[in-house]
Amino acid sequence: MYSSVAGWLGQDQRGRSLPQGLYISDAAFEFDTQTLLKSVWLYACTVAHVKNPGDFYLFEMANASIIVVRGRDGEVRAFHNTCSHRGAKICTAGKGSNPRFTCPYHQWSYGLDGKLLAARNMPDGFAKTEHGLKPVALENLGGLLFICLADNPPPIDRAKHDIADQVSLYNLDRLKVAVQEDMAHQANWKLVMENNRECYHCDSNHPELNQTFLAYGFDSDTPVESEESKACDAYVGSQIAKWKELGIYRDLIEFPDDGWHRVSRLPMAQGTTSATLDGQPASRLPIWSLPESDSSSLSVHTQPNSWHHFFCDHVVTFSLTPLGPDSTLLRTSWLVHEDAVEGQDYHTESLCAVWRATNRQDGHLSELNHAGIATDGYTQGHYSLDEQMVEAFKDFYVSRSRAALASLQGASQ
Ligand code: FES
Ligand SMILES: [Fe+2]
Repeated sequence: MYSSVAGWLGQDQRGRSLPQGLYISDAAFEFDTQTLLKSVWLYACTVAHVKNPGDFYLFEMANASIIVVRGRDGEVRAFHNTCSHRGAKICTAGKGSNPRFTCPYHQWSYGLDGKLLAARNMPDGFAKTEHGLKPVALENLGGLLFICLADNPPPIDRAKHDIADQVSLYNLDRLKVAVQEDMAHQANWKLVMENNRECYHCDSNHPELNQTFLAYGFDSDTPVESEESKACDAYVGSQIAKWKELGIYRDLIEFPDDGWHRVSRLPMAQGTTSATLDGQPASRLPIWSLPESDSSSLSVHTQPNSWHHFFCDHVVTFSLTPLGPDSTLLRTSWLVHEDAVEGQDYHTESLCAVWRATNRQDGHLSELNHAGIATDGYTQGHYSLDEQMVEAFKDFYVSRSRAALASLQGASQ
């Protein structure tokens, strides 16, 4: 099973991109969506996407359809979106709110906790308690919700601690989703991820992002002796000293142990406080617990499908799901304070301007990347010193794929 995928995984080389087949073949897409991505934690949405009891959000990938829902008790849970009667899909809307789930086919109804509430004309002895919705593992990491489709999900405690520790400063429970947008990139999902994991391309491709983004700490550690870099070091140093005083400074956490998470706090470009075209907050209501608005951004990157940026006034979250071998859904959500009023406290256009432009530019680059890899001339290319995070993603992909293949083979013996 998946012998071609096993062969390509065997061709992985340190410091080089993956072999062609893993990026463009139907077999790799099948393996990724049926096996690899079902063996790891996947980012679904935030607590703000399911803010009130009854709010639900649908996570869909290949043949997985998962309802994330907040119960009357305030707990968020996840369930497979298939009726326990004869299997109909219960939810068809991507998000919404309802007091219970009623299957459109024969109207079996389920509570927000997944329990079967009503099923007409069933024979004696039919126990409703045994026919609830099938649960899916879900974890809340400081307000970021992750699901796992495996029967025995991998450990999450370290990531949960590290992410919640910093993300909780932004009070995701007190935010609302101002805008949620989908964009399909005609590129393999791994290329869209790899593009996110380096800023080697940023200088020449992201004029809007470059207004406020400081690539410092994202690129290589190679020292460059210049007046400019010394000034930058001094600025970063002074910001770090300030964060230490505020008690919010943490050393960079970069995919530790067997980890799949990266947490970093960096200053914004000098004189700016938010990722907007003019560098000023997009929303008048701060979300940050600390008294002063600060030139500080927190970034969380998780393997294999998400990244998130936190500013003093808003949060932007990104999730990827593969749609086909050469098609990927990028979903972007912008969160602001729950009391912020559109048109008064924030304007959607200015809130979204930087990342709408950046997403378009990144989509174009990923599509060029996929198109070139699909040609006859492609060979596994060398990473630059600025592409260490690309290699971290690739290593995660290769090691988890090998493990998933091994357990698949073990199960079939
Ligand atoms: S399939 Fe859902 S009630 Fe029949
Ligand atoms: Fe980019």
